[in-house]
Amino acid sequence: MWDSIWTNANLATMTEDGYGIIEQAAIAVQNGKIVWLGKQSDCPENPAKNTYDVAGKWITPGLIDCHTHLIWGGSRAREFEQRLQGASYEEIAKEGGGILSTVKATRQATEDELYEAARPRLQNLMREGVTALEIKSGYGLDTDTEEKMLRVATRLRDETGMSIQRTFLGAHALPPDYKDKPDDYITLICEDMLPALHKKGLVDTVDAFCENIGFTTAQTERVFQKAQDLNLPVKLHAEQLSNQGGTALAARYKALSADHLEYLDEDGVKAMAESGTIAVLLPGAFYFLRETKMPPIDLLRQHNVPIAIATDLNPGSSPAHSLLLMLNMACTLFRLTPEDALAGVTKNAAKALGLPDRGQLKEGMAADFALWDIKEPAELAYRFGFNPCYGVVRDGAYSVFAQSSMDSHTEPSTGCNAEARASL
Ligand code: NIG
Ligand code: FE
Repeated sequence: MWDSIWTNANLATMTEDGYGIIEQAAIAVQNGKIVWLGKQSDCPENPAKNTYDVAGKWITPGLIDCHTHLIWGGSRAREFEQRLQGASYEEIAKEGGGILSTVKATRQATEDELYEAARPRLQNLMREGVTALEIKSGYGLDTDTEEKMLRVATRLRDETGMSIQRTFLGAHALPPDYKDKPDDYITLICEDMLPALHKKGLVDTVDAFCENIGFTTAQTERVFQKAQDLNLPVKLHAEQLSNQGGTALAARYKALSADHLEYLDEDGVKAMAESGTIAVLLPGAFYFLRETKMPPIDLLRQHNVPIAIATDLNPGSSPAHSLLLMLNMACTLFRLTPEDALAGVTKNAAKALGLPDRGQLKEGMAADFALWDIKEPAELAYRFGFNPCYGVVRDGAYSVFAQSSMDSHTEPSTGCNAEARASL
């Protein structure tokens, strides 16, 4: 007997090129895994403990936000004003503002304060059908504060039941106490910070900011070597503001992803294609920094490099709290098709996080999916500032979101998981 079945649904399985649509479908779940899906008329007679008739709603894989800096202290609204008055992101960073101003506020905040600030950001994403995401450290730049951030990420994971990958980004900026001594700071990361945090079980992945205002490829490589020694996968903030060759380095270390990529050239694209590294594009940062150099979308397509899309949620370059909005921006700014954009926040985002059992609706995969009040999947990227998410299933547990009283056609089915609903 199955645990639950959702009937009268339309599925965008994301299992092939395009949406992989199955209309008038059903999807059944047992022990947190998808055990059957297909045309409802082909459904075997296998009774389920719970049956949910979803009245023609669409079901997609749970959305995955594969690049966020969701935990931080303070605000950078003042910096936004400075940029509008003409200061550049790099200038502000060089004067000790930017990332370092967030480092100061994050060091001052208690663990509980960081948790309370991060939770509504996460809830906003969850409410939009996000079931898995990545959260980076990198606003501590000392062992204690990096640990504090990673502990908050762990607590968010454990308390919400979301699938959360924790990324150590100690090499995000040079802390003031190491001014003019970047190599010494990299030594601290490699010999102290990363091994200590790894030993405490707080790190899933390792990232760095390879940039003229960040770290050189040689410094990044030292961090990657350490990650490799510890058997941790790597990823990289690469070619965001200039072409440093970081992507080729990331590819040599079989990085899960290289992210941003506006200044990437064809050699870098080829290196990614060979290593199977995913290109993570961040339209929120492109938009908010008023970047004009487009990431090389055509080259990525020509060389069959899979493209993922993420919010880059952070206080400085992308205070973007909506992954759905990023779908729209990926289409309007980067000219992705709505189906490529949806692949970018499902199957390709799963690859960027090394999650082989998520991002597609397929038998044997985790029962993580989102239910939508839409007429066709392209609507997810088409509308902006509107959230048609009806509910989510996470590891088989169903939560229906409260519907507005104006919605007469979206009465929740019986038996939604009250516990999962409460956790939202
Ligand atoms: O992804 N590029 C470096 N890191 C972040 C920005 C962090 C910040 O400005 O606080 C990014 O854009
Ligand atoms: Fe980032």
